[in-house]
Amino acid sequence: MAVKIGLLGFGTVASGIPFLLKENQSKIRELAGENIEIEKVLVRSSDDADRLISQGYDYDFVTSIEDIISDHSIDIVVELIGRIEPAKTYISQALKAQKHVVSANKDLIAIHGQELIALAQENEVMFAYEAAVAGGIPILRTLSESLMADKITRILGVLNGTSNYMLTKMVEENWTYDEALVSAQKLGYAESDPTNDVEGIDAAYKVAILSQFGFGMAIDFEAIDHKGINVIKSEDVNAAKELGYVIKLVGDLQETDSGLWAEVVPTLVPLNHPLAAVNDVMNAVFVESVGVGQSMYYGPGAGQKPTATSVMADIVQISQHMLEGKVVKPFNAYQRSVRLAEAEEVVSAYYFAVEASDQPGQLSHLAQLFEEYAISLDQVLQGRADHGKALITVITHSINRNQLADIVTAIDSSEVFVLENAFKVLGE
Ligand code: HSE
Repeated sequence: MAVKIGLLGFGTVASGIPFLLKENQSKIRELAGENIEIEKVLVRSSDDADRLISQGYDYDFVTSIEDIISDHSIDIVVELIGRIEPAKTYISQALKAQKHVVSANKDLIAIHGQELIALAQENEVMFAYEAAVAGGIPILRTLSESLMADKITRILGVLNGTSNYMLTKMVEENWTYDEALVSAQKLGYAESDPTNDVEGIDAAYKVAILSQFGFGMAIDFEAIDHKGINVIKSEDVNAAKELGYVIKLVGDLQETDSGLWAEVVPTLVPLNHPLAAVNDVMNAVFVESVGVGQSMYYGPGAGQKPTATSVMADIVQISQHMLEGKVVKPFNAYQRSVRLAEAEEVVSAYYFAVEASDQPGQLSHLAQLFEEYAISLDQVLQGRADHGKALITVITHSINRNQLADIVTAIDSSEVFVLENAFKVLGE
C-alpha cells in the first residue's frame, strides 16, 4: 500500500516534490506511515509531457483533469498551477470526488477559500495550504496550532519575496527597478506575470489568509488596502535612510476595539526593528500576542524547495490522518464574524514626501498645514533642490486614518505643494 497523489501542474514548486520524496524518503515514510507516490501529473499539453519526459521525469503525465478525478487510487490531489481558474474548478471536482486537497494557491484561497473550505467539510475531506503564505515558513500551523491558546493583537509581515529581494537590491546595490525585476524573474522568485508581486496584490492575498488564522476573521480581499513597491521612488529610499529607517513592503493586521484593520503598504521600518533585517527573498511574520508577547517567524518565502517542503508537510499530515482513520478537521478551526476597525482607532506615524517651490517660507507653510489638522511633526528633512523645486520629507507623530485622509486631501488640493508619497512609519 502507498498513499498516492495526483499533481496538478509541474512548475517550479511541483518539481521540488520528487526531490523531497527522494532526499527525505525514510523520514517521510516513517511519519506518513506509508510510501507516498506520485501516481499522475496533470500538464497542459502532450508537448509539455514530452519535454518533461525528455528531462528524465518518469511519471504518468495526463492532460485531462478527468484522468485524475476518476482514478480511485489517488487519495490526495496537489494543486500547484496557481491563479483562479482552472484551479478552482479542479479543486472543487477533487473535493466532490472525496479526495483530500493540498494547495499553495494564495490567490484562490484568499478569494474563494471559504467556499472551498465548506466544500471540503461537506465531503469530509481535508483541504490544507500551508505553502500559500510565506512559502517555506510554517506560519499557518504555528498560528492555528502552536498559538491556539494565545490572543493575537497584531501581525506584521514581509510577505512577498520578490518585492523584498528587489527592494534589497535597490537599497543596498543601487540597482534600478528593472534590473532588480529581471534578476528576480531569473531566480524564479517572481510570478510569471510579476504584477501581483510588485503591486502588493500577492502580499494582500497572504494578509487575507493570515486574518483567518490569526484573528479568526475571513475578511474580504477587497477590504485590504494595498500598494506595492512600484510606487517607491529612489528619493524615498534615500530619505528613509537619512531619517533612520529602511523601506519594506509590510502587510499589517491589527485588532482594535472596533475590529480588524488590514493593509499592505510600503512602510518605513526603524533599523532596530526585527523586520528591518529581513532582506533578499526572505519573508518574516512578526506576531504580537497577549501570551507570548513578540515573536518572529523568518525564512524563505518563495522558491522551489522551501515551498515544496510546506506542501509535503500537508501531504504527510493528511496521510497520517488517513491511516489513523481520524475525524477530518478543518485546517483552521478559529472562526469569528468579521468586524472591520473604525478609521479613527487605527493610528501610526506617517512619512510624507512633498514637492514645494524652493522659496523662503514654504517649509513653515507646510508645517502650518499639518498644524491645521492637529498633526505634530517628529522629523523634517529638506532633500533635493533643483529647477526651483525642493523635496521636503516629514515624519509625523502618530495620526489616525481620518487625519491621514484629511492631510493627503489638503496637500493634494494645495496649489503650492505636490504630494509625492505618503508611507506608514512603524514604531520601534
Ligand atoms: N512570488 C511570490 C513571492 C512567491 O515572491 O513571494 C510566493 O508567493
